[in-house]
Amino acid sequence: MDSENKIIIESKQGEALIIENPKGKNGKKLFLESYGCQMNFSDSEIVASILMNKGYTTTDNFKEADIILLNTCAIRENAEQRVRNRLNDFKRVKQANPKALVGVLGCMAERLKSQLLDQEKLVDIVVGPDSYRDLPNLIEEAEDGRKAINVILSKEETYADLTPVRLGSNGVTAFISITRGCDNMCSFCVVPFTRGRERSRDPESIVKEAKEAFEAGYREVTLLGQNVDSYKWSGGGLKKEILTEEQKNSAVNFAKLLEMVASVNPDLRVRFSTSHPKDLTDEVIHMIAKYENICNHIHLPVQSGNSRILEMMNRGYTREWYLERIAAIKRIIPYVGISMDIITGFCSETDEEHKDTLSLMEQVKYDFGYMFMYSERPKTLAERKFKDDVPEEIKRKRIAEIVDLQRQHSEIRTLEGLGKVHRVLIEGFSKKSDEKLMGRNSQNSVVVFPKGNHKKGEYVNVLVDECTSSTLIGKVI
Ligand code: 5AD
Ligand code: SF4
Repeated sequence: MDSENKIIIESKQGEALIIENPKGKNGKKLFLESYGCQMNFSDSEIVASILMNKGYTTTDNFKEADIILLNTCAIRENAEQRVRNRLNDFKRVKQANPKALVGVLGCMAERLKSQLLDQEKLVDIVVGPDSYRDLPNLIEEAEDGRKAINVILSKEETYADLTPVRLGSNGVTAFISITRGCDNMCSFCVVPFTRGRERSRDPESIVKEAKEAFEAGYREVTLLGQNVDSYKWSGGGLKKEILTEEQKNSAVNFAKLLEMVASVNPDLRVRFSTSHPKDLTDEVIHMIAKYENICNHIHLPVQSGNSRILEMMNRGYTREWYLERIAAIKRIIPYVGISMDIITGFCSETDEEHKDTLSLMEQVKYDFGYMFMYSERPKTLAERKFKDDVPEEIKRKRIAEIVDLQRQHSEIRTLEGLGKVHRVLIEGFSKKSDEKLMGRNSQNSVVVFPKGNHKKGEYVNVLVDECTSSTLIGKVI
């Protein structure tokens, strides 16, 4: 395949993805790779858009790239270690081709600022998450042999006017950022330092992006934010005190935004991530129940099942509050998928407190989850106030118990899907066979079935009569 006029992106899974560049060429080849959360992948789509507008062309082989960009994650120490290893690979490329430039984008760039450039000499360009518009200038500066760094955080930047170049996409599901940054200050978390203050994006631009995605053939959008429930738009970012009555009435909260996006088309599914237990309102839950095309899945990180630990984490809720929110979700949306994040081995966590996390899991029975051992991050509240005093082997033992319990719960939840008809949006071929297609049901479980005459992007009703531990298997009816 001719890669001259294309942008090639390597995803976390290592698949090279190629996008035509309609804007023509400037003779320089780009290689862009993303690590970390969905927000980072979404940001890479903004970066690709900015550079394609400048005529960058690309290569799937970083060894022949003029510019190599790495969009990075700083959430846990091992995420940073992976990036460092990759930067060392690129360093070898530079020895063979000294003109090649290497840039680090995203959270690790913001956290370490000039360190990777000056002390560690691993990169030529450092760009924080709010400075992507400056990337073409920074590349020029680096080409002239000057230091190229911009890690200024913004209170306004949402990239609202930029149309992302959909990367690594199956052509069916797309991500749309609705907020940037985070004001929550969970004591373990580096994100408020790397992504800055929370700001919401103009709802009109969000709806426009959703419409464009639908018109381009996408059938599902995932609205992204660190805490989607705190989404708030009141009259173009004006201060509340100077808003007119009409502007106040037209303020858009997350429930209203969900409704606006769901109204784009009944055939456009809407998902969202991440919800925060302290801010998830009944209004949002009712909105999910009201619209068929708002998916019945909530990712609701709990982090711990013990109220003392939650307080130390500065999460803003107790175990009881969290369980009440879960009860409300299950009451209002009878067949709902619920997933979580849990951190085990947070500072001073006792065995009893760890057991509280297990017992909370027993009560909720999550469909799936992301489970982590606590990793101390520089500058965070926890690093300054508490000791990372749970020994590594205890953290390992606890995470193994949590993962094992979650595996049992995932199985139980999957079994509950048997004998039911699931509405599935087809995303592509199943991993194991080209004779089978895969998609997801509203609850976000993977469903596999024989392909027949069906194609990706279509909705089908699948009667599920078999399953593995996490996949539903059935036939279109
Ligand atoms: N250590 C371990 N896990 C963390 N997370 C965030 N910060 C840390 C940390 N310092 C987890 C939380 C969060 C998810 C995105 O990453 O569970 O919800
Ligand atoms: Fe980090 Fe808490 Fe913000 Fe999530 S809500 S990004 S865990 S500070």
